[in-house]
Amino acid sequence: LDPDKTISRPELFDFHGVSMTHYFTDNWEAVQNFPARPDDILIATYPKAGTTWVSCILDLLYFGQTSPERQTSIPIHERVPFLEIFAPSVALVGTDQAEKLPTTPRLIKTHFPVQFVPKSFWEQNCRMVYVARNAKDNMVSYFHFDRMVKVQPEAGDWKDYFQRFIKGKMVFGSWYDHVSGWWKKKQTYSNIHYMFFEDLVEDTGREIDKLCSFLGLSPSAEVKKQITGEVQFDTMKKNSMANYSTFPAMDFKISPFMRKGKVGDWKNHFTVAQNEEFDEDYRKKMKDSTLQFRSEI
Ligand code: A3P
Repeated sequence: LDPDKTISRPELFDFHGVSMTHYFTDNWEAVQNFPARPDDILIATYPKAGTTWVSCILDLLYFGQTSPERQTSIPIHERVPFLEIFAPSVALVGTDQAEKLPTTPRLIKTHFPVQFVPKSFWEQNCRMVYVARNAKDNMVSYFHFDRMVKVQPEAGDWKDYFQRFIKGKMVFGSWYDHVSGWWKKKQTYSNIHYMFFEDLVEDTGREIDKLCSFLGLSPSAEVKKQITGEVQFDTMKKNSMANYSTFPAMDFKISPFMRKGKVGDWKNHFTVAQNEEFDEDYRKKMKDSTLQFRSEI
């Protein structure tokens, strides 16, 4: 299959109040009826918040010692299927991939806002790991991603992209609603571990420790050190099973998947005027939230 012929850039449309594309709504019935198991672990993020990073960490924590060959032979997007993706022409149907997973626990990724998560995950009291990233860097990362991957709507120029992000006209909707919705859910559903990209950059080992206590894992210091090393940006960037080089419809000549992995790259993109406009709008949108982000560390 030639992904260039079977994949094309989709339109954004309103879906139950959230901007979406057909790639993530076409399989809605099967996704909503997905039978989660109690030991499934859902990795949930707004796109570009560190999904792949945390997926690799969890995969190593659970399977790094028992089946090390996984890491060198199966791409991360197969080890951790993307629940709602539906692109059968390139063999990407998240529900089928998840159902075929031979491992326990199953690690499953979603970019859904919290209200779209299939009910069985709540009913089974599944553990969920949510990763959030500061809005400015998240926007910049998403911009470069939309430029390079053909399953996303055209990014257009930066000035327009900036406005679209503020308005929430992005695939998977508004960043503000996403991070706040999951944060609110955490107050009533105790099986969510809410983590921040910036904390991972600051001290990956410490964040792995916190993840382990949430998951009830106790790897040795040596194993933890090994995992911390394997998920460093430069190591993952070189790893073809983690860097998305095997994924269809991405043009790394435009921008690599593992792009910079930094906190504060927004400063290379935002103009002074954009930054002021952004901050003023952010204060209004987030005024009722107790969520605190760091745009620099
Ligand atoms: P940048 O575009 O800012 O570089 P996701 O996996 O949710 O799509 O997120 C991708 C973003 O996470 C990219 O951000 C990517 O570089 C960054 N990333 C992935 N692995 C990383 C790692 N090990 N260390 C730091 N950043 C990482």
